[in-house]
Amino acid sequence: MKRQLKHKPFSTYVIPELKIARKRLKKETETIYFHLDDNLVGFGSGKYYHIKTYGCQGNLADSEKMAGILEAMSYERVDNDEKADVIIFNTCAIRENAENRIYGELGRIKGLKEKNKNLLMIICGCMSQEENVVRTLTSTYPQVDIILGTHNIAKLGEYIYEAATHNSRVVNVWSEEGDIYEEIPVRRDHHKKAWVDIMYGCDEFCTYCIVPYTRGKERSRNPRDIIKEVEKLVEDGYLEVTLLGQNVNAYGKDFVKVTYSFANLLEDLAKTGIKRIRYTTSHPRDLDLDTIKVMGKYPNIMPHLHLPVQSGSNDILKKMNRKYTKEEYLEKCEYLRKYVPGISLTTDIIVGFPNETDEDFEGTLDLVRKARFEGAYTFIYSRREGTPAAKMEDSVSDETKKERLLKLNDLINEGFYQGNKRFEGEILDVLVDGYSEKDPNMLSGYTEHEKLVNFEGPKEIIGTIVKVKIEKAYSWHLRGSLVK
Ligand code: 5AD
Ligand code: SF4
Repeated sequence: MKRQLKHKPFSTYVIPELKIARKRLKKETETIYFHLDDNLVGFGSGKYYHIKTYGCQGNLADSEKMAGILEAMSYERVDNDEKADVIIFNTCAIRENAENRIYGELGRIKGLKEKNKNLLMIICGCMSQEENVVRTLTSTYPQVDIILGTHNIAKLGEYIYEAATHNSRVVNVWSEEGDIYEEIPVRRDHHKKAWVDIMYGCDEFCTYCIVPYTRGKERSRNPRDIIKEVEKLVEDGYLEVTLLGQNVNAYGKDFVKVTYSFANLLEDLAKTGIKRIRYTTSHPRDLDLDTIKVMGKYPNIMPHLHLPVQSGSNDILKKMNRKYTKEEYLEKCEYLRKYVPGISLTTDIIVGFPNETDEDFEGTLDLVRKARFEGAYTFIYSRREGTPAAKMEDSVSDETKKERLLKLNDLINEGFYQGNKRFEGEILDVLVDGYSEKDPNMLSGYTEHEKLVNFEGPKEIIGTIVKVKIEKAYSWHLRGSLVK
C-alpha cells in the first residue's frame, strides 16, 4: 500500500531550532507518495510563478520539483519578477556572502507588492533552516509571505493555499528532517539532461559546514524508485543524468534491511542504457574502490569526478573533521587514474580556515600540483553560526586570506588550461546544450570529461551527441569544429 501525502492542518508558525537540527535520531526513513489535494488543482489558473535559485545542484533539483507542483496547480512559469504572482527565493546558506545577496534582493523586490497586491513572496532552501535568519525575516521583512524549509517543499501548494485564502503569513520550517517524498511532479529545465536525487542530508559534520543542520540526516532513496526514474528518463529521450546528494558515496549506509551501496546503484544505473551518468558530490573518505572500478567498467559513466579536498594540510583537515589525510586523498586520485584512464579531477578548496599557517597553505599548493586538478571552486572560509569552527579563534587577517586565494587561483587556472590543452587535435563526443552564451552564432556543449566546447553547427543538432574536432584550448573552454 502506498502511503499518500494527505492534507493535514498545520501550524502557521513553526521556526527551526539548531539544537534539534544537530541531533541524529535512529528512526528509519519512510517513503511517502506525493498527492496533490483536490482543492489545489487549478488553484493557480491564470497566475504566474517565478523561481530564483541560488547555490548548489540540490537547490536546482528542488526548484524543478517546486515548479512541478506549481504547474500541477496550473500556475504558468514566467522568467521575470514583474509579471509573477508567486516569487520563490530558493536560498543558499553555505557562505555569508550568499546570504547577503538574498537580503539585498528582498529589499529590491519590495516595491513589486505595491503593484500586485496578491503577490506572494516565498523563501525556502537552506537559509530558511537557520533560526537566526527566520527571526530576522519575520521581524524585519514584512514583504515575505511564506517561509518553508528544505524538508517540506512537498507542502508548497498547501502553504500557498493557506496564505492566499486566509491572507495570512505562513512560517513552517521543520528542524528535524521528514521522510522521503516520491512522485513529486518535476518540471525539468533541460530536455536532455536531468538531475536525479539519490539521497538527502549529510552526517559528515565537517566543522565549517552548515549543511548537516540545514539538510538533516542522511536518507537514501529506495534503489527501485531511482532506477525506475532513470529508466523513464531514457524512455523520454534524456541522454544524461547527474546523481545528486551531499555525500553520494554514503548512499545506502542508512538502509537497515538490505545491503546496497553506491557502487551497486551506479552499476544498476549504467545498465539502464542512459548515455551519460555523472554524480556529485563525493566525499574522499567514503569514495571506495568498488565505485572506482564500476566507473572504469562502464563507458556511460563519465570520466570526470568532482572530489572536494578542502585543504592539503593534515592539521587543517583534522580540524575540519574531514577524516582523511593528504596522502590518503592522493592515493585515491592514483586509483582513479589507474581504473579510469584520462579521468579529469576537479575539487573544492577553502583557504583561511581558522589559524591556517603559511605552511598549511603551502601544503594545499603542493597537493594541487600533485593531484593535477583540472578545475576547482575555491573559497575563503566563511564563519557559519552554530558550526564547531565558528567557536575557533582566528589569527589570520582578511588580507592574508585574500592573498592566499589569489595565489591558489593562479595555480588552479593553470591546471584548468592544461586540462583543456590535452584535448587539442582530438575528436570528442559533445552533448550540444544550445547556443553559446558568449557568442550566439556558436553552439556549445560538454564533452565526456565535462569540458565546455564552442563550435559552429546547425541548430538541429541541439540536444544530440555529436563529434567535434578540438582546434584550440583556452583557459575556460575549447574551440572546435563539427565533424560531418
Ligand atoms: N566557508 C567557505 N566555504 C565553505 N564550503 C562549505 N562551507 C563553507 C564555509 N563555511 C565550501 C566547501 C564545500 C563547498 C560546497 O562549499 O568547499 O565543498
Ligand atoms: Fe558540508 Fe562536509 Fe557534508 Fe559536504 S560533506 S555537505 S562539506 S558537512
